[in-house]
Amino acid sequence: MSNTKFHFECRSCGNKIDGFKEWFAHGQKCSKCGKSNIYTIYNTDKEKLKELVASDVKPDSLWHYFDFLPLNDAKNIVSDGEGVSPIQQWHFLEKFAKQQYGLNLKVFVNRNDYSPGTGTFKDKGGTLIASVLKEQGVKEYVVASTGNTANAVALYLAKAGISASIFVPQDALSENFVHIGSLGQKVYFVKGDYAYAKKIAAEYAKKHGLLISLGNLDPLRLEAKKTTAFEIIRQLGKMPDVYIQAVSGGTAPLALEKAFVDFGDTGILGDIPKMIFIQGHYCAPQVDAWNKAKETNFPEGWEMDYPIYDNPKVYVPTIATGNPGLYPQLAKLVKRTNGEYYAVHEETSIDVARLVAYEKAAKIGPASAIAILGFFEALKNNALKDGQSVFINIGEGVGRAISFLEDVSYTLEEISSVEDTKRFDREQYREFVWKPFKK
Ligand SMILES: Cc1ncc(COP(=O)(O)O)c(C=O)c1O
Ligand SMILES: [Zn+2]
Repeated sequence: MSNTKFHFECRSCGNKIDGFKEWFAHGQKCSKCGKSNIYTIYNTDKEKLKELVASDVKPDSLWHYFDFLPLNDAKNIVSDGEGVSPIQQWHFLEKFAKQQYGLNLKVFVNRNDYSPGTGTFKDKGGTLIASVLKEQGVKEYVVASTGNTANAVALYLAKAGISASIFVPQDALSENFVHIGSLGQKVYFVKGDYAYAKKIAAEYAKKHGLLISLGNLDPLRLEAKKTTAFEIIRQLGKMPDVYIQAVSGGTAPLALEKAFVDFGDTGILGDIPKMIFIQGHYCAPQVDAWNKAKETNFPEGWEMDYPIYDNPKVYVPTIATGNPGLYPQLAKLVKRTNGEYYAVHEETSIDVARLVAYEKAAKIGPASAIAILGFFEALKNNALKDGQSVFINIGEGVGRAISFLEDVSYTLEEISSVEDTKRFDREQYREFVWKPFKK
């Protein structure tokens, strides 16, 4: 291997791949078996992570973890200071769990909405993709996305002077297109669902011989998001007992799992949390598959049995993956960690976004609201136990979901004169914002 820092190993045949040069030269396929699922293996001493996650270090970006990221030369880093968003303890959720369920919980929320790039946890992938492409001298890249990955790739590649052709499904929130378009990156509005946008993007990449983001197992996404586990340890000192996230394809949880594959034996990360995954009720193929498996007592091959929903009509398109190709892997992770899958009513994301904005002055996006709803759902289903710590990975702010914010907003009143106004006390809204959640 000429690449001394890291190499890839094919997960199908074990073939060793000498870094991105070889990987890209073979069209992002294993040169032996032709499959595209590879693992990144580092030669860096794993104990080095201990220093990096010490509580007194103050990193500037995800590149603090350079030693465990697949880039050879730090001079190629393209960064906006992403990947180290604060993890906050949200006492109002703890108080709710205590009052309504008698549970003493610690509830932590990862504020990816603060990410300086594009305000989502997809900036982690964006910075790594741009840096690696720069290092490899790549000038063009292709991606399909419901919006957040699209924006992160568009921005970071623009910073690196790399052309991005981006395929977005027609139900994506429209603010996504204008952001990408304004950066001078190409955006294709695909008449079809997310699965169809992925298909067209793949055809486009093949037609022109271009590199494409391979989806949820692409090492560039997985390795970047793996750092979430490191940040949890650095900021909280220990792994939480429970991890809650809105899932679409499943990159973030599988990336967390990757961190445990790499560092599990060092003890630095502790135990992998109980995984609770949330989907919107209009498009919840993974939840439906899981519930079926549970009802039938997990028969042989249960994880391969999942539905595919074409052209789902949803309220939260950001996380609508009708064809969840990675369900088998995700569901096994849920089972192994004694976790759960829940579907939540998509329009209630409006209620929860109001509540969060009221209590924390935080404007969260619809996919983040789905994750917080998952916390309420987990409480309802007795999935959380007294004394546990819960980590909610919220992925986005509301910056590109103005239509959602319009639904969330509730205080506007039209007036003609000062006579129509009265003194205002925001306490008057407390009962209103809590009402949907009280038993
Ligand atoms: C804000 C937000 N939350 C959650 C997800 C789900 O991500 P994944 O299932 O790939 O981990 C996405 C993906 O698009 C997202 O943008
Ligand atoms: Zn192979």
